[in-house]
Amino acid sequence: MMKHFLSLSDAGGDAIAAMLNDAIDRKAARQDWPKGKTDSDAPLANHTLAMIFEKSSTRTRVSFDMAIRQLGGTSIVMDSGSMQLGRGETVADTARVLSRYADAIMIRTGDHSKIRELAAHASVPVINGLTDLSHPCQIMADLLTIIEHGKALPGLEVAWLGDGNNVLNSILEAAGLMKFNVRIGCPEGYEPDTGFVGLARKGGANVTLTRNPADAVRDADIVVTDTWISMGQDHAETKLQAMMPYQVNAALMSHAKSDALFMHCLPAHRGEEVTDEVLDGPQSVIWDEAENRLHAQKSVLRWCFGQI
Ligand code: CP
Ligand code: NVA
Repeated sequence: MMKHFLSLSDAGGDAIAAMLNDAIDRKAARQDWPKGKTDSDAPLANHTLAMIFEKSSTRTRVSFDMAIRQLGGTSIVMDSGSMQLGRGETVADTARVLSRYADAIMIRTGDHSKIRELAAHASVPVINGLTDLSHPCQIMADLLTIIEHGKALPGLEVAWLGDGNNVLNSILEAAGLMKFNVRIGCPEGYEPDTGFVGLARKGGANVTLTRNPADAVRDADIVVTDTWISMGQDHAETKLQAMMPYQVNAALMSHAKSDALFMHCLPAHRGEEVTDEVLDGPQSVIWDEAENRLHAQKSVLRWCFGQI
């Protein structure tokens, strides 16, 4: 059966736990190696990953490229604007063609229905590199970072501040699968997708929503935020105003547990959703989080090929 990674639920809790363990082992095995050196077992030797970007990216682009190289394979990176896809070739036909050249396809796009269509017509695994709905690869890296910093996932209290966006949707999905709780502090009208809230609760996660940012953060183990304006959204002044009380600053962080971690998928908008003092402060794990995109995605790739 084809193993697409469009959402965390495509893998499920047990496979996610196995992928995280694999990532920890592989990361440890290549400590201090040059980044371009292939892992000693080269598990995806002779495999090619094709990547399509319909939106900007720094981390996803470079971490997936390095991931497939470290696994022994190669990549082809394409911006949709320079592909026939950008001038009307259908997603289905693009999927059929790329499946003849590459062993897997990663795509970053807007409408989630596009990635579903790509997967439906591809005969190779398709990976979600972010859509307007979700960002599962980011959350794999986040879970890895949390574990690396000595915190167990079950029962963890995660506080999300700001916009109810694609990253929060995937955190909620992870909460149901890995059994942690999410407190959301967000202004009215910017709540996460109700389907993801329902999914988390169905999985046994405690999900609470408050308009009071201090209540969201109180005694939290993890404090997370993201840009208030996601790619493709209008830079609306009204939204920025509504978000301002949810800015993660030192005063807000003081309500969390003293050993709480601050996380952000990046890119950050310094002085908007988070202040420099928090981003660059002792509780911030943002650079580990960014690095772990590479390690977590190597395990996602291996899972897609049935190696995990
Ligand atoms: N966090 C993340 O996905 O970063 P990029 O947009 O740079 O890929
Ligand atoms: N929510 C952000 C995440 C960027 C990695 C966006 O979609 O732009």
